[in-house]
Amino acid sequence: MGYNIAIDGPAGAGKSTIAKRVAKELGFIYVDTGAMYRAIALYFLRKKIDLTNEKVVSIACESIDITIGYQGKEQQVYLNGENVNSFIRTEEVGKLASISAGNREVRMKLMELQKALAQKENVVMDGRDIGTYVLPKAQLKIFLTASAKTRAKRRFLELEEKGTECDINEIENDIIERDKRDMTREIAPLKQAVDAILIDSSEMTIEQVAESIIKLYYESK
Ligand code: C5P
Repeated sequence: MGYNIAIDGPAGAGKSTIAKRVAKELGFIYVDTGAMYRAIALYFLRKKIDLTNEKVVSIACESIDITIGYQGKEQQVYLNGENVNSFIRTEEVGKLASISAGNREVRMKLMELQKALAQKENVVMDGRDIGTYVLPKAQLKIFLTASAKTRAKRRFLELEEKGTECDINEIENDIIERDKRDMTREIAPLKQAVDAILIDSSEMTIEQVAESIIKLYYESK
């Protein structure tokens, strides 16, 4: 097993930005598991799969192949061989990802891929269930959070920068709704692992959070 750093937390807490920084600094591979759930959701969206029908979703899963690759340090997600990175970052896909992530078949499929990646390499993996289910033996576990207001504001600025028009209150409501669904689902709900270290980034900069994780890494060695 490589050295595994698990970073979990709610939507918009800054997990991917932080995880990327930490991975770069330590020379680890960054694995964004949310992108995998988003790629599966994109498949369901394109095929107009009824996500309320567990059976239909499970059967559809059999026709889905998710793999990842890297362009430089940037993770690319492939859905049945197609690079779908540029299609998965919308709010719509995020919401559908959170709905379909409650399906057992979907989770089993991705968990296998995620475990296999961490087995071979030193990774910083971010998601919702990494420290609790995917990599329960990870040497360092972080639970990264921030207030819903802060997270909504960050997401708003991110979307604005991309030129996407949006409403901050709507984003906050979406975030709260998504967190609730992620925390209350039956399988692998979002929660802090007992041995995870809690970091609240509401009043911290990206650099401060990344530095504190890197410090924890060196202390754990
Ligand atoms: O992190 P991101 O916003 O890209 O994740 C999209 C959705 O995928 C989350 O809201 C969550 O429902 C799901 N997800 C998950 N388990 C993970 C990563 C993401 O259930 N490890």
